[in-house]
Amino acid sequence: MSTTKKEPTFVTDSKISESLFTIAKKYLNRAHSPYSKVKVACATLMNDGKIYGGCNIENASYGGTICAERVAITKAVSEGAKSIKAILVLTNQKEIWPPCGICRQVMAEFAKSKTLVFTTNLKGQMITYNFSDLLPGAYTPDYLLK
Ligand code: THU
Repeated sequence: MSTTKKEPTFVTDSKISESLFTIAKKYLNRAHSPYSKVKVACATLMNDGKIYGGCNIENASYGGTICAERVAITKAVSEGAKSIKAILVLTNQKEIWPPCGICRQVMAEFAKSKTLVFTTNLKGQMITYNFSDLLPGAYTPDYLLK
């Protein structure tokens, strides 16, 4: 499947992406990924003003694997945070990786369409999305809560 690629900018272009990147880098080393060897980290700024981090945690029963984004978001929500202000994903891969479909759906629960999603690599290159670019026509809580 081919997709239109955005040109990368740099993490240092904004204070918020820089802060999230610094925290995500700490979590990258905590990735538990003996099977894929891929390290992914996520840092999310929540409405409580705090930044929560997470890493991918794989499982010998592959389906038990959880992505870095969902680790960070579930940590934040379980601490009482309610919404995502901005979120950054970092991988140790050469290419900049976008969040997977399940993580996009979980983001849809706590993000707004304009919420910034920064996707980065260790070179500090960054592709920035509004959440709605990643999941157009999202199935959001609005459908159930209206
Ligand atoms: N992974 C994430 O942590 N986030 C994503 O959005 C994509 C994939 C992880 C899951 C697995 O541990 C590894 O990357 C390879 O798929």
